Amino acid sequence: MIIEAEGLGYTYPGQPDPVIRSLDFQIEAGEVFGFLGPNGSGKTTTQKLLTRILPGYRGKVSIFGQDLRGQSAAFYNRVGVCFEFPNLYEKLTAEENLGFYAEFFDVATEEPRNVLERLDLPVGDRRPVSKWSKGMKMRLSLGRSLLNRPPLWFLDEPTTGQDPAHAVLIRQLIREKAELGTSIFLTTHNMTVADELCDRVAFLVDGEIRVLDAPRDLKLAHRSQLARVEYRNDSERVTRDFDLATQAEKNAFAELVRTREIETIHTQEPTLEDVFLRVTGRDLA
Ligand SMILES: Nc1ncnc2c1ncn2[C@@H]1O[C@H](COP(=O)(O)OP(=O)(O)OP(=O)(O)O)[C@@H](O)[C@H]1O
Ligand SMILES: [Mg+2]
Repeated sequence: MIIEAEGLGYTYPGQPDPVIRSLDFQIEAGEVFGFLGPNGSGKTTTQKLLTRILPGYRGKVSIFGQDLRGQSAAFYNRVGVCFEFPNLYEKLTAEENLGFYAEFFDVATEEPRNVLERLDLPVGDRRPVSKWSKGMKMRLSLGRSLLNRPPLWFLDEPTTGQDPAHAVLIRQLIREKAELGTSIFLTTHNMTVADELCDRVAFLVDGEIRVLDAPRDLKLAHRSQLARVEYRNDSERVTRDFDLATQAEKNAFAELVRTREIETIHTQEPTLEDVFLRVTGRDLA
């Protein structure tokens, strides 16, 4: 097991109520674990707890089989952390930034040039990163978090602010790393990302994990039995929904199919977003 959290809780100093109440979860080696939840539900806080940026949590966490409180500085050789907002030295160039951060590690690091190329960023740009666009800075931050080739990678909203082509590039990169065995803790609001990449997803609501399962199993469990039929009534097109869970609706559906000229029949499969709404009673905001 790469991460084991038991009763993880946290209250910001001076605040009356806990932000994180009590989380229990485990992340296996090579697993992509999606951490989803509405704004302010505590996703970033949880990432900060697991990466030792915020001390003073309650409960028990072990990472790489060792208690998180007892980890040495070498812990950071084995984790990559990409924050919600780019954190870079704005006055330095991209290569200087990567070179600077690479110095902190006691393990072999990636060549800055390779990192830039992998993220579709310019090589040899002499401008300070303050002159770069927001999306470019985010990708550079992402690249920075991969410098030490971490077996455990934390990503907080990695596709935010990316145009569609670069969002695809990032999804491919995440998949590639997962296939190579990297364990990934992925915070996101993007349901496509979650559905496509995550082996399991946890829905965080009010500082608690409300549901934890594989996206496919969640969708199956919340499958509705709604069928939408489009048919002709004289020259007019009519759309009607049938809840096939009830016998009366089933009969009405069969009758319609027998007697009318049907154009289309669709069952309504829930998306991960539908499941989220149903489980939490809220939107992702
Ligand atoms: N430094 C802080 N001091 C006090 N409260 C904080 C601090 N940082 C965050 N909070 C509060 O903790 C709660 C959880 O915040 P957090 O940033 O973890 O949410 P999130 O799930 O990452 O939200 P988002 O989707 O907007 O990124 C919020 O109510 C927030 O106001
Ligand atoms: Mg956040």
